[in-house]
Amino acid sequence: MRKGKCDVAVAGATGAVGREMINMLSANNFPVNELRLLASSRSAGQKLKFKESEIVVEELSPEWIKKNRVDIVLMSAGGAVSLEYAPLFSEKKIYVIDNSSAWRMNPAVPLVVPEINPHDLAVDKYIIANPNCSTIQMVHALAPVHRISKIKRIIVVTFQAVSGAGWKAVKELESQSKKIADGDFRELNLPKNKISVFPHQIAFNCIPQIDVFLENFFTKEEMKMVQETKKILSSEIEVSATCVRVPVFRGHSEAVNVELSDDITKDEIWEALLKEKNISLIDDVSKLRYPMAIDAAGKSATFVGRIRHDESRPKCWWFWIVSDNLLKGAALNAVQIAEELIKII
Ligand SMILES: NC(=O)c1ccc[n+]([C@@H]2O[C@H](COP(=O)([O-])OP(=O)(O)OC[C@H]3O[C@@H](n4cnc5c(N)ncnc54)[C@H](OP(=O)(O)O)[C@@H]3O)[C@@H](O)[C@H]2O)c1
Repeated sequence: MRKGKCDVAVAGATGAVGREMINMLSANNFPVNELRLLASSRSAGQKLKFKESEIVVEELSPEWIKKNRVDIVLMSAGGAVSLEYAPLFSEKKIYVIDNSSAWRMNPAVPLVVPEINPHDLAVDKYIIANPNCSTIQMVHALAPVHRISKIKRIIVVTFQAVSGAGWKAVKELESQSKKIADGDFRELNLPKNKISVFPHQIAFNCIPQIDVFLENFFTKEEMKMVQETKKILSSEIEVSATCVRVPVFRGHSEAVNVELSDDITKDEIWEALLKEKNISLIDDVSKLRYPMAIDAAGKSATFVGRIRHDESRPKCWWFWIVSDNLLKGAALNAVQIAEELIKII
């Protein structure tokens, strides 16, 4: 750090999350001294815009790390890349804020949502994990409720946008939708050779599978929500999830049923949410107002609505939680972690 400014690298700069990281550094006015952009050899030489300047993308390699020095790396180049390169950066005492799942459950690695556990950051912890996009928005919205009445159990069903699976997935939904809309609507099933990112057709469909299936018949994405919520909020919370990919470009939605320890009122829940930073409460069914992905896309907040007592069980409440998976679910949370980090380094 020089005069309060940082040299920053974005690794995976050409991807869905990487591009938003560049935007968020600018939108949040993060004190950048110099910005370096890294990707694979496929994109080296490409130019990307940051504020008024154009920056040439460089190839991330062990040689690059040997030759160069930055203060913080925002990494969104996938788990395999992170497992290989994050240790090389951290050996040089360079902080890596990583978006993949590679380090999240490592007990030595802080898993941080800045509104909840910024105190988990430490000067000597060079690898920091950004939680999964579906976890971030859920714990962000539920943390204020957990503060007024301990959460005992969470049951969540997600409706996740295709951009959560990267740029190729966005293109897949776009091209499948065009193909079907231009053709015969009675023939909605696309031939298998038109499907590549998702295991089935995503246009005009819902796929109850995100990531691979595990031995317990849950998917990896579902178990990430279980384990990460415990690590961030409390190990005592029981969590069960079903994660569904839906044909939405941007913005994850979640139906969340929460069992609390105490009898509290809707007013108390509202009050706790209204006080919370970056939470936007949209809950007026008389005017048909509730959060939706199309409204959350491109916005920084986590949106909460449809709050209602679950009449089938005491102390249980339903919430509808929506946020932009590329912003609070990824790039924005990473930049907010960097903002907390520079307060202590
Ligand atoms: N999308 C989301 O909502 C979201 C949310 C939370 C976390 N994440 C995580 O963030 C990471 C990136 O996701 P994404 O959606 O941005 O994917 P993406 O659109 O596919 O972008 C991947 C990026 O990684 C780069 N890359 C790939 N292989 C590389 C290598 N060997 N060396 C250097 N760079 C390499 C790519 O560069 P090239 O252009 O050179 O190929 C590209 O910039 C993943 O771990 C993902 O799980 C995503």
